Amino acid sequence: MNSRRKVLKSLALTSLSLPWLRSWASAVQLPAPHDPDYWQKIRHAFMLSKDKVFFNTGTVGAMPKVVVQRVVEHFEKLATDVADWDYKTDIGWISGYHPLPDLRKKIAQLINADAHSIALTDNVTSAMSYIAMGLELKRGDEVLTSNQEHGGGRSAWIVREKREGIAYREVTLPKPVQNKDEVLSLIRTALAPQTRVLMLSHIITGSGAILPVKEICAEARAKGIITVLDGAQTIGHIKVDVADIGCDAYVGCFHKWMGAPPGTGFMWVRPELLKNLWTSVCSYQWNNHEDEGFRFSQRGTGNYSVMIGMEAALDFHNEIGPQRVYNRIKFLGSYLRDGLRRMPKVKIFSPADEAMCAGITVYNVAGLTGARLQDEFWNRARMRPRSQGDEFGVRHCTHIYNSEKELDRALEILQKI
Ligand SMILES: Cc1ncc(COP(=O)(O)O)c(C=O)c1O
Repeated sequence: MNSRRKVLKSLALTSLSLPWLRSWASAVQLPAPHDPDYWQKIRHAFMLSKDKVFFNTGTVGAMPKVVVQRVVEHFEKLATDVADWDYKTDIGWISGYHPLPDLRKKIAQLINADAHSIALTDNVTSAMSYIAMGLELKRGDEVLTSNQEHGGGRSAWIVREKREGIAYREVTLPKPVQNKDEVLSLIRTALAPQTRVLMLSHIITGSGAILPVKEICAEARAKGIITVLDGAQTIGHIKVDVADIGCDAYVGCFHKWMGAPPGTGFMWVRPELLKNLWTSVCSYQWNNHEDEGFRFSQRGTGNYSVMIGMEAALDFHNEIGPQRVYNRIKFLGSYLRDGLRRMPKVKIFSPADEAMCAGITVYNVAGLTGARLQDEFWNRARMRPRSQGDEFGVRHCTHIYNSEKELDRALEILQKI
């Protein structure tokens, strides 16, 4: 079979086309939406140990039980029955060779994009590297970013600076930022005639600031600048609509706020730009312009069990209802910040404007360090926020598996120390 027919044939297969691959959505029993114990019952859908409190979703999220069950089921199937694989279809055993159209469609629906422009990646770092390495840029073209980007977002651009003479520049954003206008004005002023690419986090990892990306992208677009957004901290946390934002590229992952297994990410690039993006990790489909997203998804043998877990996590999120999840995360984040604002010795590094905040709060207590705070929380109550170093204290993430009660207890601990 020629390769085009082979692709079309595999595109026609769905992830549910093998009898032992069931619909994950129907397997989850969720409480009724009006149940007064709704969130408590949702908490039971997670495997998180009951004697520990997890506040570090910004590093890696806790997985719902159904996600783990699906991964394990598939792993066992692979170990037991791999001999059943007759290679007449290439779906269901390993990942990295199949376009997985249904899965990409679910991601596309989540961010309001076209599924053919979505590539499956292992994480945000690889997605960002595909974009940074694949864009045609010439010596002197500038990539502008902020001083608060994660290494996985900014490093590939720095490699191009060192290797090819692309200019790399960071605009300094304050921490905390006061409001959207402040950020917009700083970025607007920093855009220069030589700026070709603007890369920014949609949510800044070390402060939780939700940047005014729609307004920023409009400014950049008017100047012909390509906008690339790092959504490592947004997917499953706040609503993301790439069409509304108006960016040129968006990368994200599912292993933080979406509760998928580690090693699950995606890249979306606007079709006009995607067709000219060079492939960095290349296999048979490296030049397949009929399905651009597949061109980047074909990255060699990978773990299909993890893909199944990822689909289960997306289904779980959709069954609860994305907006319900975002509202709950924001409610808990605001609850925590309200409590912190009542403590005179606490300094908050998340934005002063609550409209720029959701589930990430970064704060410190006068005279303490992040390491000390992290240890105090753990030793006193088996609570796990994450240290942000000497100055910035801890990053405290709130997700649907957290509760008001846990936050009251955390605030009580802060009062005591
Ligand atoms: C803003 C941001 N970008 C990139 C990354 C790297 O993500 P990944 O580990 O999925 O590559 C992180 C991880 O914390 C992040 O917060």
